[in-house]
Amino acid sequence: MTDQSFHDALRSLLVWDTTLPAFDPGSAPEAPLPLFRSWFLDAVEAGQTEPHTMQLATADADGRPDVRTVMLHEADERGWHFASHATSAKGRQLAARPDAALGFYWPAQGRQVRIRGRVAPGTPDEAYADLHARSAGALAAALVGRQSEPLESLTELADASRTAWERARATPDAPAPTWTLYVLVPTEVEFFQGDELRRHVRLHYSRTEDGAWAQRLLWP
Ligand SMILES: Cc1cc2nc3c(=O)[nH]c(=O)nc-3n(C[C@H](O)[C@H](O)[C@H](O)COP(=O)(O)O)c2cc1C
Repeated sequence: MTDQSFHDALRSLLVWDTTLPAFDPGSAPEAPLPLFRSWFLDAVEAGQTEPHTMQLATADADGRPDVRTVMLHEADERGWHFASHATSAKGRQLAARPDAALGFYWPAQGRQVRIRGRVAPGTPDEAYADLHARSAGALAAALVGRQSEPLESLTELADASRTAWERARATPDAPAPTWTLYVLVPTEVEFFQGDELRRHVRLHYSRTEDGAWAQRLLWP
């Protein structure tokens, strides 16, 4: 690969090479959750690949940002749920600084959703129930553990994974002690609808002191 081929490929790409839906913020609900759920279903219907994956941004104890992809497990009145190991880098960052942000990008409809808030760990029972309602693969992955630790070799991973798969199949109720369900409790949620003429619509919700939601538009 040459520098030129990289730059040519980069410059040839477009975003939203499709008809984008209109978004009327005047008809948006009072709270962000119903709008999130409705946009999520729109993304599924539009054939958006993996709309249930999201970026999770955290900061370490020194305030340095970090980001990675995780799966959305639920979005309800409590907040946005995801799961991971408490002992992972993100788990340690969240324990030190629970402030975090989530980002969804659904290019099929030129939509982005950004969420900021505080992350609270759920109970061990909730983590157990959430994990054991999922696939054997999810359990095997959780049983491997040691997430974010340095790995000596891929052989070491293959051995640990084989053992974890055998255990997940033989003992489907096996506990994965560090596996934790987290809930991001939102204080701000922003909906971005891309527009062909670049008049993108940004609707920002922020939680007020009395627990209601205030809405405002933002310049794109
Ligand atoms: C599509 C996708 C989904 C993922 N889902 C999760 C998840 O739900 N939980 C998780 O712990 N890691 C998930 N990962 C792996 C994380 O992105 C990350 O590599 C891992 O959690 C370690 O992150 P950390 O070192 O910052 O803690 C996913 C990765 C991808 C690409």
